[in-house]
Amino acid sequence: HAHIDHATPEKVRAAIRADATHATIPAYETFTDYTAAGGYETLKSLRAGGDWEAVQDKVLASGLRGLGGAGFPSGKKWGFVRAASGPRYLAVNGDEGEPGTFKDRYYLERVPHLFLEGMLIAAWAVEAETAFIYMRDEYPAVLEILAREIRALEEAGIVKPGFIDLRRGAGAYICGEESAMIESIEGKRGMPRHRPPYVAQVGVFGRPTLVHNVETLHWVARVCREGPEILSSVEKNGRKGMRSYSVSGRVAAPGVYQLPAGSTITDIIDAAGGMRDGHTFRAYQPGGPSSGILPASMADVPLDFDTLQPLGSFIGSAAVVILSDKDRARDAALNMLRFFEDESCGQCTPCRVGCEKAVKLMQAEHWDQGLLEELSTAMVDASICGLGQAAPNPIRHVMKHFPDEI
Ligand code: NAI
Ligand code: SF4
Repeated sequence: HAHIDHATPEKVRAAIRADATHATIPAYETFTDYTAAGGYETLKSLRAGGDWEAVQDKVLASGLRGLGGAGFPSGKKWGFVRAASGPRYLAVNGDEGEPGTFKDRYYLERVPHLFLEGMLIAAWAVEAETAFIYMRDEYPAVLEILAREIRALEEAGIVKPGFIDLRRGAGAYICGEESAMIESIEGKRGMPRHRPPYVAQVGVFGRPTLVHNVETLHWVARVCREGPEILSSVEKNGRKGMRSYSVSGRVAAPGVYQLPAGSTITDIIDAAGGMRDGHTFRAYQPGGPSSGILPASMADVPLDFDTLQPLGSFIGSAAVVILSDKDRARDAALNMLRFFEDESCGQCTPCRVGCEKAVKLMQAEHWDQGLLEELSTAMVDASICGLGQAAPNPIRHVMKHFPDEI
């Protein structure tokens, strides 16, 4: 714990307050509002004698899967962490660095206590000793809201001072990778670890750690209070549940849209007010740059976990970016690879050197497709973490779907 001592929760919160003087704090549901509407009753009754396995069953029955992007069944993680002997920790991934993703921010700036109650329920379920929240520093309003509301929880006696340890990221995309985030929480440079072992066994300070994304915990609170049906009863195109799509690009009304998980890109564009005037739909990024770029012709596929796998893509954190006839897929792909080149932690050669080489090759008017394919294979096969493994997706998609451009 030596690393924690020099950055006490009080010191971190004081620094957040100082920085937040420049932030506009939106109107949001405060502790008083939330408790007046029955908030924290679920947590209190669970703590008073609830059965964690019954809660786990509820979460499993809802079909809730990890909404950071990987879609791992949330209830299953609780079982892995409980199976490992304590002390255990909970670490919330609030780094939300995937370009185009802003759903966690959306919920935190409106209903932060749904997330906080979900987090405390999960912490109770795995008997966590501390709940770390690793929050993106580019969200000063969110940090201020959390600092205020954690204080309110402490004053109300719902948590002991220091139980929730709010940490600030420092603008590194890779610190959203769970093991790099854990390194950063421990006070080290954020570099992904090899796995296995998974963080459920060896996480923060070597202890079993439950890692959840912010939105996942928001849904944990709702499922526990309102029942698993709020997710499991929603059906569309053979898929169950809801997704929060962060929609940006050439649409009339960019924003976060909560839609059935079976929604297609056509449904999403409709929800976002249609295309912007003067733009014709041409292509889309379904779930962050690592999911690549798909052509408008692939508009009838439900944008859910698993459904995009046959297309060499994935929905990830549902960061949807709409491109139009005014955009070139190759420009978007180059932009994505430049981002990966900047954000690679540099620990392994295929990713560190591969991203840089790819950027050089993609700047040529005519792409050397053979070489780019060879490079992509090496990166996918030999990179340590998801950044290097998925970085070639945009390259491969442009070669496959937009050959005229290159
Ligand atoms: P992953 O599938 O390897 O792991 C997902 C989670 O399940 C992790 O918490 C992992 O520890 C756990 N897990 C998997 N197998 C396990 C096992 N056998 N035992 C115990 N635990 C197990 O995926 P990863 O690499 O963590 O995440 C990739 C996703 O993250 C991508 O879909 C990407 O879109 C998304 N992403 C999201 C960002 C955001 O800002 N929300 C930023 C960057 C990427
Ligand atoms: Fe770092 Fe890239 Fe290797 Fe991941 S793949 S560990 S980001 S160098």
